[in-house]
Amino acid sequence: MSRYWSDVVQRLTPYVPGEQPQHPRLIKLNTNESPYPPSPRVLDAIHSIDGDALRRYPDPESSALRVAFAEAAGLQPEQVFLGNGSDEVLAHVFLGLLRHDAPLLFPDISYSFYPVWCDLYGITGETVPLRDDFSIAVVDYTRPNGGIILPNPNAPTGLLLGLDDVRTLLEANRQSVVVIDEAYIDFGGESAVRLVDRYDNLLVVQTLSKSRALAGLRVGVAFGQAKLIDGLQRVKNSFNSYPLDAVAQRAVLASLGDGRWFQESCEKVIASRVRLTAGLVELGFTVVPSSANFVFASPGAGRDAQALFLALREQGIIVRHFAKPRIGDFLRITVGTDEQCDALLDALSGLLAAL
Ligand SMILES: Cc1ncc(COP(=O)(O)O)c(C=O)c1O
Repeated sequence: MSRYWSDVVQRLTPYVPGEQPQHPRLIKLNTNESPYPPSPRVLDAIHSIDGDALRRYPDPESSALRVAFAEAAGLQPEQVFLGNGSDEVLAHVFLGLLRHDAPLLFPDISYSFYPVWCDLYGITGETVPLRDDFSIAVVDYTRPNGGIILPNPNAPTGLLLGLDDVRTLLEANRQSVVVIDEAYIDFGGESAVRLVDRYDNLLVVQTLSKSRALAGLRVGVAFGQAKLIDGLQRVKNSFNSYPLDAVAQRAVLASLGDGRWFQESCEKVIASRVRLTAGLVELGFTVVPSSANFVFASPGAGRDAQALFLALREQGIIVRHFAKPRIGDFLRITVGTDEQCDALLDALSGLLAAL
């Protein structure tokens, strides 16, 4: 606390990201990064950058990238917004599209950054409880609101909401913006991007951090009708005109050009998820059906999830535990390579045997 801090800063409770410890033999399954390096074309694009590209400011509108994203999504470039990670895109969405007199609705168990942006921008957030099985009941989102946001698949549960339910949500809320945060959609879901032309209140946000293995570059994207995107451009150009640096713009363009790498790496993660889920079930865990690159699993009665989290950490295996209502008995485990998942299962097996 400092007397120089503004009232807003004094009131903030900042988001705490998963830890990034520097440890050579660490098995890091706590922040849902890809276990694989990005497409080799990305590295080629980065290596080919010359001094001139760095000396100059980058294209503030990331025009070539917007065209590439638009083509891939069957949309127009004016329907694409880019930011420095989807966290930045989402922050702009909160300020530019979700700040209204009525409350913003989001699930009681979802991305824990949402309440932080509510605080930052003075938005009233209202949580809507998930059902007991952690599924989202779209009928609960028919109350008056100034916007709706939900991750799909949800985080940290990994549960997918079908496109029919997304459509129902949109039909029931024609007066407010509905944001579908699709950080994990490539691991088994159907994107709502195809609904963008039909609904002027739909914004779909995606990230290059997970399925494109580019968390270190920080690039996120939003798709919506031109008026929504225009609102975001206004916020961006009042905050930071150049959110994507020259390296990121070229590297992401190269990534989008490598469909084969993308498909293969998603398939590998999905196969490893099936294997990891089976291994956890064999150890007595209850695993929520996941459509993401992580699983949400409870060790079961008499086995303390937090104690397991700490004991795994001692062995250099880092997963995520949220000491929060309803989910304190669960661990969120990123799907790693099969070798990493096996090391986790071996460690868990040893720990459970010692109980
Ligand atoms: C649901 C959800 N949305 C958004 C993000 C932010 O991703 P990034 O800022 O890396 O694009 C994450 C990151 O873990 C996430 O889980």
